[in-house]
Amino acid sequence: MTGLAATAVSKRYGGVHALRDVNLSIPERAIVGLIGPNGAGKSTLLKSLAGFVLPDAGRIMLGETDLTGLNPSRIARSRLVTTFQHATPIAGLGVLDNVLVGMTEKHTGGLLAALFGTPGYRASERAQRERARGLLRSFGLEQLAGLDAGGLSFGQLRLLEIARAVAAEPLVLLLDEPAAGLNRLEIDRMTEAIRSLRDEHGMSVLVVDHDVPFVFGISDRITAMNFGRVIAEGTPDEIEANEAVRSAYLSLDGENS
Ligand SMILES: Nc1ncnc2c1ncn2[C@@H]1O[C@H](COP(=O)(O)OP(=O)(O)OP(=O)(O)O)[C@@H](O)[C@H]1O
Ligand SMILES: [Mg+2]
Repeated sequence: MTGLAATAVSKRYGGVHALRDVNLSIPERAIVGLIGPNGAGKSTLLKSLAGFVLPDAGRIMLGETDLTGLNPSRIARSRLVTTFQHATPIAGLGVLDNVLVGMTEKHTGGLLAALFGTPGYRASERAQRERARGLLRSFGLEQLAGLDAGGLSFGQLRLLEIARAVAAEPLVLLLDEPAAGLNRLEIDRMTEAIRSLRDEHGMSVLVVDHDVPFVFGISDRITAMNFGRVIAEGTPDEIEANEAVRSAYLSLDGENS
């Protein structure tokens, strides 16, 4: 794997150019931030990468694998995994079970082994539960493992949603507004958890968010969009000093949280 590269991706909704000739690169073992005012095209780009939106033009490569035009489940099997804006874990299911759901496709031994509870299956199930607990620990949710997900706070649900996505062992993880609605403490915890995905699991992560300190603090590189176009790409320091980025944000002056 040598990272994800989107080249010249365009998407129109009627008269709206949601994406115009967008280039985005997520290098291996990097955290990339994607910023821009409301309606800039961030979620449309993320959905295009994940296969939920079919771009009108452009190419999406994951290392040597061409993902362009593939359906979402095929893309997920290539280990590009996404959490969406406003997505929530499954209420009515335990916290630990939510993470296990994310792992189900990885179970070895197949359905018969599961039905008859063969020793190999039980050992692999134990290993899965251990791994799920480890994931919950890294997201600070271990104490809640036995609770129903419906009883969690908003911030805990956001963290659980990411733990569930990580359970599928992505190479590239796309997060749409993971910090939205979280308090500072929860954002710090999420920052640590996302860093450990890069540093300990070697993942590449794309973070879309409006929380400027969060995105600038966590990202190795940042791509900035406005009106469907990429207006700047660089290190957080370069983006902070960039005139086009400043005017895109300043022109909204407070409208954009
Ligand atoms: N399914 C759709 N049908 C029609 N227009 C759409 C659709 N999805 C997005 N758009 C339009 O495309 C543009 C980009 O929207 P998108 O949701 O990608 O922006 P965004 O950068 O994620 O914004 P936000 O920060 O508010 O989440 C907007 O003008 C939006 O209204
Ligand atoms: Mg969006």
